Amino acid sequence: MVKKLAVVYYSGTGNTEAMARLVAEGAEQGAKDIKVDTEKIDNFPARKALEYDGLIIGSPTYYGSMAYQVKKFFDDSVSFHGKLTGKIGGAFSSAANIGGGNETTVAGILNAMLIHGMIIQGTASGDHYGPISIGGPDARVEKQCRELGARVARLVEKLGA
Ligand SMILES: Cc1cc2nc3c(=O)[nH]c(=O)nc-3n(C[C@H](O)[C@H](O)[C@H](O)COP(=O)(O)O)c2cc1C
Repeated sequence: MVKKLAVVYYSGTGNTEAMARLVAEGAEQGAKDIKVDTEKIDNFPARKALEYDGLIIGSPTYYGSMAYQVKKFFDDSVSFHGKLTGKIGGAFSSAANIGGGNETTVAGILNAMLIHGMIIQGTASGDHYGPISIGGPDARVEKQCRELGARVARLVEKLGA
């Protein structure tokens, strides 16, 4: 059966959206038998996550944390708490500044995924927790985004719930 991965994001001014497209491209190239959907979080009710084997979420950094639209997604997911166990997760963020709270934003998203029982793979090189962009993605961030997509896609192929 073909496994499914969703790249879901909120983006106020397009930077996180540009990252999401790159993550999705990396996922499509990273594994053979995976269907990848890219969706704005406003069009992705939390319950839809149940239909996927993997979920990568992107948010701009707002006050060192995820945007409220992404937090709402997680808060809504309490109605099926426990049902995401074993699914594969990943996260990425765009911020204005180096040290502007971008890693805490990614860590916040991954933390919520861990509380759901999801599986997270870091990376030993590059952006360890997930891709971080200052503004829109440059060539370095493009590589990080593609690698995240491919990494999660490969895990979904192997382990996806
Ligand atoms: C409400 C708000 C809060 C923000 N807080 C931070 C912040 O804490 N640190 C930072 O570096 N940038 C902050 N920014 C800037 C955004 O993270 C940055 O512009 C990002 O690239 C926007 O991504 P987007 O184009 O996907 O919306 C903030 C922007 C807004 C609108």
